[in-house]
Amino acid sequence: KSLHSQQLPHNFQTMAKEKIEGCHVCTLVTPGEPQVLLGKDKAFTYDFVFDIDSEQHHIYQACVYKLIEGCFEGYNATVFAYGQTGSGKTYTMGTGFDVSLTQQEQGIIPRAVHQLFEGIQNRKVRAQEAGTQPPEFKVSAQFLEVGDTLLFDLFK
Ligand SMILES: Nc1ncnc2c1ncn2[C@@H]1O[C@H](COP(=O)(O)OP(=O)(O)OP(=O)(O)O)[C@@H](O)[C@H]1O
Ligand SMILES: [Mg+2]
Repeated sequence: KSLHSQQLPHNFQTMAKEKIEGCHVCTLVTPGEPQVLLGKDKAFTYDFVFDIDSEQHHIYQACVYKLIEGCFEGYNATVFAYGQTGSGKTYTMGTGFDVSLTQQEQGIIPRAVHQLFEGIQNRKVRAQEAGTQPPEFKVSAQFLEVGDTLLFDLFK
C-alpha cells in the first residue's frame, strides 16, 4: 500500500525514520539469564527479561498471573509500564479499546480484568456448590494517564 506520510500514524513515521537513519537493535538478552546487555558492556539484571520475540501471554503468565491470584489472598499489586516514547508501554499494557487486535495480541489490562472476574465467578460457584454463603466482592476501577505533570482521566 502506498500512503502519504501524513496519513501514517506517528509511530510508523518514527520507525521509518529510525530505519532511514540506519538504527539497529542495541540490546542483547543473555540466554537463560534475566539480564539485558546494552551495547557491549552495560549489563542490567531484573526479575524477568523478555527478548524481542516474546508474546503477550508469555509475559502475562510469567509476571502478572500470580499477582491477580494474590489479590484474592488480600495482597496489593502494581504493574507499571515505564519507558521512552514508542517503546511499547501501551501495547504491552493493552487498553481493550483496540478491537482490531487479535486475542493473542491482547495486553495485560484485558487479561487481568478477565482473570479477576473469572476468579470471582469461580469462587461464587464453588461456595454455591458447597452450600455456603457466597463471598462478596467489590471491584472499582480508575483509568488514568500520566503525561508529564498532567493527569488524564481516560474514563471521562
Ligand atoms: N511487542 C510489540 N510487538 C509488535 N508491535 C509493538 C510491540 N510493542 C510496541 N509495538 C508497536 O510499536 C508502536 C509503539 O508502541 P506503543 O504505542 O505501545 O509505545 P508507548 O511506549 O506507549 O509510547 P508513548 O509513550 O508515546 O505512549 C505501536 O504501533 C505498537 O503497536
Ligand atoms: Mg502509550
